[in-house]
Amino acid sequence: MPWRRRPFTSRNISRALNISHLREIARRQVPHFVFEYVEGGAEEEASLRCNRSAMETYRFIPQTLVDTTARHQRTQLFGREIRSPLVIAPTGMNGILNAGGDIALARAAASAGIPFCLSTVSTTRLEKVAEDAGGRLWMQLYVMRDRRIAEHIVKRAYAAGFEALVFTTDANVFGHREWDRRNYLRPGRPTFGNIIDMLRHPAWLQRVIIRKGVPRFVNFTEFLPPGGGSAIGGSTLIPAMFGPTLTWDDIAWLRGLWDRKLLIKGVLSVADAERAAQLGCDGIVLTNHGGRQLDYCVAPIDMVAEISAAVGTRMTVIVDSGFRRGTDIAKAIALGADAVMIGRATLYGLAAAGEPGVRRALEILTSELDRVLGQLGVRCLDELGPHLLRRFPA
Ligand code: FNR
Repeated sequence: MPWRRRPFTSRNISRALNISHLREIARRQVPHFVFEYVEGGAEEEASLRCNRSAMETYRFIPQTLVDTTARHQRTQLFGREIRSPLVIAPTGMNGILNAGGDIALARAAASAGIPFCLSTVSTTRLEKVAEDAGGRLWMQLYVMRDRRIAEHIVKRAYAAGFEALVFTTDANVFGHREWDRRNYLRPGRPTFGNIIDMLRHPAWLQRVIIRKGVPRFVNFTEFLPPGGGSAIGGSTLIPAMFGPTLTWDDIAWLRGLWDRKLLIKGVLSVADAERAAQLGCDGIVLTNHGGRQLDYCVAPIDMVAEISAAVGTRMTVIVDSGFRRGTDIAKAIALGADAVMIGRATLYGLAAAGEPGVRRALEILTSELDRVLGQLGVRCLDELGPHLLRRFPA
């Protein structure tokens, strides 16, 4: 949907109508290379497109003449109430979208009554997020080649009181995001094109770079080469630190370090979900990393019913990739998911207007979900089920 160019600030961000509107605002606020970092998928971007087109194939069968005055979208996650079935997904380098990006996301999550998951490759130290934001905090873990980095992060997240560890398993062989490859010649070194791009966004330049200094990876500085760690071009630096050696045996190693909630983010088959349950994991995230890893990957929404039926009574099942509307969230819950992780939708809010923008993104999603519950004739998430959906070919 085309939108008229109109300047938005944190004062009038409440006029943003939907997530695609926030996306348009975000696109104008940040340099192209930043927007392309957020937006891009791997290779042909077939997974990225499929995440959206799969949503289209599920249609609702509403129930009519039901009094839904008292409807709500509260639910339980790991024995505690959340106000909506949402979690803000871990995303790296949030500080290049807006100053204090991680804190803005975490605070908005806390005020919406949902958990926030901090990325290993965040630009704010995990301790600072715990101190400044509060709320329910989860820590995402990338286990890099040098296992000491993971141990270092897990121990600190434990000490800082994080509730859950989300072990990302789908990026050991890093996806080829060709936008990023085009945008940077060398990690940490802006090209001439990047510099022009930044100069054309003076408000962003002032807020993000001049006032705060170039955002850096701060959770494992001890393990970076001297002077390394700039988040500009970081998406080309980090992949070199990953390795394909991780296996299911490593879950026992992680369990030895972490006795709180443990989730595996990167499961897409019943066999892997069963394995996670057998190894005592508390939850799984069905994801294709927002289309940024394996190309031509199945859309996670398409695996929800099968996987939830197999392991849903033993583990918490969360799904992400491509969620932009309340109807998308309702579909996932109806198919059997416990909650949905939101990646780009809240990042658009962050880039558009900082914390108020993230709040607006969550407000949009939760008010859309509220509306669809009413229109479906259900009063709470437990009343959603596959009987309300019919699948049609895309
Ligand atoms: C991500 N994602 C991600 N996942 C993760 O486990 N650790 C990370 O550091 C990141 N970083 C990251 C950066 C950006 C810019 C994006 C868009 C995504 C994946 C993320 O957690 C989630 O799986 C997807 O974003 C979900 O898809 P949507 O909601 O963006 O379509």
